[in-house]
Formats: sequence, structure tokens, C-alpha cells
Amino acid sequence: MPQNAKDIAVLVGSLRKDSVNRKAALALAGLAPPSLRLELIEIGHLPFYNQEFDADPAQTPASYSDFRRRLARADGAIFATPEYNRGYPAVLKNAIDIGTRPYGKNLWANKPAGVISVSLGALGAFGANQQLRQQLANVNMRVLQQPEIYLASADKLFDADGNVTALSTRDLLRSFIETFAAWTTPAAIAA
Ligand code: FNR
Repeated sequence: MPQNAKDIAVLVGSLRKDSVNRKAALALAGLAPPSLRLELIEIGHLPFYNQEFDADPAQTPASYSDFRRRLARADGAIFATPEYNRGYPAVLKNAIDIGTRPYGKNLWANKPAGVISVSLGALGAFGANQQLRQQLANVNMRVLQQPEIYLASADKLFDADGNVTALSTRDLLRSFIETFAAWTTPAAIAA
């Protein structure tokens, strides 16, 4: 891994052991060029956000401080989300909110973001994907617009070991992560 590889935090919006979003996120990590270092950041243990946690530093959960330290180090983030009732799951919303506080310390701001959505359904979690993009615009991330990745009927896309079976899906994910790598470069930021 080159010294100057970009550090990319990967957040998965599902806590399911057999999550297809987690499988897709791990597939992205395996397809990433050497210029990116993708690391899955766990968010399921983070307590629901309560402003009192930040009103008094003695009240701030250690898990928040660890998560924020990790985000501060990241050069960007990739989100893999399922769709829950046409939106993205609460566990992801909670993590995003924690990253924006205390007020004025938004750790997401100006960082490149990528969104993929994966579902067992036919729409590839389109609604969740779009809602999450809107959320990331609000927290001032530079969201990669194309290629859009909606993986549908995802139970058929991975083998028993979680490897992507369909070459076309692997090529799509490779195209996404290579485009995202270019999106994190100074030239893209300056454009
Ligand atoms: C779902 N699911 C679902 N799927 C979908 O395509 N659109 C939807 O609106 C919903 N709604 C929904 C609500 C709730 C509460 C649950 C638990 C599930 C199905 C969901 O996408 C499916 O379980 C995926 O497998 C979730 O992704 P992971 O957990 O495999 O990554």
C-alpha cells in the first residue's frame, strides 16, 4: 500500500451478519486500486445520539470519541446502504449525526463520498440511495454522482464465501471504486 494512499472509511447501513451490503463493501475493498485504503468502520454499537452527550465532555461516550477520531483521519467515506421502508436505516443516520457534532465540528465536511445501495428487492434500494445522497449533500460531502450503483436481487450476486459471482457486477463495482479513486485526487477537488 503506497504511503500516500487515501484513507477511506466504509460505513455499512446493515447490522445483519449475512448482509449483502457488507459483502458489496468488502468486494469494493478488494477491487480498490493501491491509491485507496478502504476500512470498514463499525457503527452498530454507537448509542443513539443525545445532545447531552456533547454538552458535557464527561458524558461523551468513548465509542463516540473513537468513531470521531477515526472519521477525522479519513480522507473520504463510502456508504453501502440497504433500504428500510424506502429510506436508509437509522443506524447510518445515527452515525452521520454523531459525525456532525459537537456543533461546528462536522467531520464529514468537504470530504469525498461514494454511495452504493444493495437490496434483495428489484429496485436496488434506489429510494435509500437517493435519500442518503441528499443527506450527504446536507453535511457538505462531495458526493460522487456517477456511476450510480443500485444492486438488486442481491441474494444472487454472491457465493457462499461472499465473493461476487457475476463478472458484470464485479466490473461495475470496479468501475465505481476506480472512479471514486479519481474523485479523491486534488485535481477532482480543485475542479
Ligand atoms: C426491508 N427491506 C426492504 N427492501 C427494499 O428493497 N425496500 C424496502 O423499502 C425495504 N424495507 C425494509 C424494511 C425493514 C425494516 C427491513 C428489515 C428490510 C429488505 C432489505 O432491503 C433486505 O433485508 C436487505 O437484505 C437488507 O440489506 P442487508 O442487510 O442484506 O445488507
